Amino acid sequence: MIARQRIAALAAGFAIAAGSFPAAAQPSAAATRIVVQTDKPGATIERDIFGQFAEHLGTGIYGGVWVGKDSPISNVRGIRSDVVQALRAIRVPNVRWPGGCFADGYHWRDGIGPAAQRKHRLNASWGNVIEPNSFGTHEFFDFAEQVGADVFLSVNVGSGTVQEAADWLEYLTADKPTSLAQERAANGRGKPYKIKYLGLGNENWACGGGMSNDHYVEMMKQFAIYSRNLDPAQAKTMKRVAVGWDSNKDDYTESVLKAWKARNWAWTIEGVSLHGYTIPNSWEKKGPSVNFGEDEYAKGLRATLKMKEWVAKQSAIMDRYDPEKAVGLYVDEWGIWADPNPGSNPGFLQQQNTLRDAVIASLNLNIFMRNADRVKGTNIAQMINVLQAMILTDGPKMVLTPTYHLYHLYVPFQGAKVVPVSFEAGTYTLGDISLPRVDAVAARDPTGKLWLALTNVDPNRPAKLAAAIAAARGATGRVMTGVAVDAHNDFAAPNAVAPKPYSGRLAGGQLQFDLPPKSVAVVQVH
Ligand code: AHR
Repeated sequence: MIARQRIAALAAGFAIAAGSFPAAAQPSAAATRIVVQTDKPGATIERDIFGQFAEHLGTGIYGGVWVGKDSPISNVRGIRSDVVQALRAIRVPNVRWPGGCFADGYHWRDGIGPAAQRKHRLNASWGNVIEPNSFGTHEFFDFAEQVGADVFLSVNVGSGTVQEAADWLEYLTADKPTSLAQERAANGRGKPYKIKYLGLGNENWACGGGMSNDHYVEMMKQFAIYSRNLDPAQAKTMKRVAVGWDSNKDDYTESVLKAWKARNWAWTIEGVSLHGYTIPNSWEKKGPSVNFGEDEYAKGLRATLKMKEWVAKQSAIMDRYDPEKAVGLYVDEWGIWADPNPGSNPGFLQQQNTLRDAVIASLNLNIFMRNADRVKGTNIAQMINVLQAMILTDGPKMVLTPTYHLYHLYVPFQGAKVVPVSFEAGTYTLGDISLPRVDAVAARDPTGKLWLALTNVDPNRPAKLAAAIAAARGATGRVMTGVAVDAHNDFAAPNAVAPKPYSGRLAGGQLQFDLPPKSVAVVQVH
């Protein structure tokens, strides 16, 4: 490996081959050698690393999830069935709701009770459109239950009160007949709802109230104490996630962890967040989401690999206060943020989703899995019709994006244990951009099956990989690629990008893989 390749691979966090191949089993010179250390199982990859985010933003909820009970679009209690079915297939572990910036302006009482009496407000965070509150607490929990996902609920720290959040928690979780529990029952839900995660605000340095880190920490403590889960069955399992770093601010995490270390018996948190978006160019001019060439592709990939530095920086701060890793890192907003679709409401953050975005998702999920000892959950932004979406809808039509298919490919990694891999990444170069050419992760699922995810980011050259795995007889799975870096699915051509059957072959005692340019494959090793 030439020095520049080695530096590029190290910079992006790709392991360099630690072991050596038996002489008789040397693959061809062009092959990337992967050493899979099946005897050294690592951390568990929490299912929540594959979480989703649904904000009241554009058509993310209205149109994307909620069509109303009287809609001609097939629905169950107003929630569209095609979307639920698609989300069940990728085994969505949790959904974060109601925001985002929207959460710190949201008042839960607006969204309960008879539909006709719900308050209409302006969604000042996103597009100044009318928020009818037809989709409120009961509708969201119904949606999560239909999908089979856990709930990540963000309470309003920015413009709400501690009492308002405490009341919402009592309404949702009280198992005794308090007045709020009775109101919940009168609105159709007798037993408590389940909450897995409670987000204590969102980006409170900016849209969540412009708070200094010290101010936020004081608010966080109050919300952590009074937002009680009153259901004994879940009082000890609900995890509180404080606001931490975003890619531009590092003082929140430091302050939150410092306070956590000095905490008393009355409060704690179980997680701290990181927000990190992939911006191919600049915040002012992010770049197109479709109809682009290799230059934009390479810039997008270069930008996304910053996630590795962000996770490392955040983890280093956390390690100083929490070496035992009791507090999880939750990357509860990430994904590619491109220019809005021409002609769309810019406040709706609608963008097309391409093969590039699926490659970006694979690189990020691989980073999260490699750091599974600290990263306990992530939520890609956002689930439907917003930013890097899984699903796009237009009235009754629905299309699954390349990112959706990537999540489908990665389902076997949910709850699996990391198996360390080492390899020489090689280099993909375009102009002054140099990136690791391939990426690989391995994991063993709870039934004992070994899985590999292999990514070839090079849009021009196929990659040969050779994996030395004791006793392997073969590998089968699926691969996803496309005709161009911006290949995508739309309503006219919904299956232009979709995974196809794929296999590796055993040769010279190793598994050999031919990866097409710009592709991601996931295989089970037999
Ligand atoms: O995902 C869109 C927005 O990005 C969220 O509302 C906010 O938290 C972040 O800045």
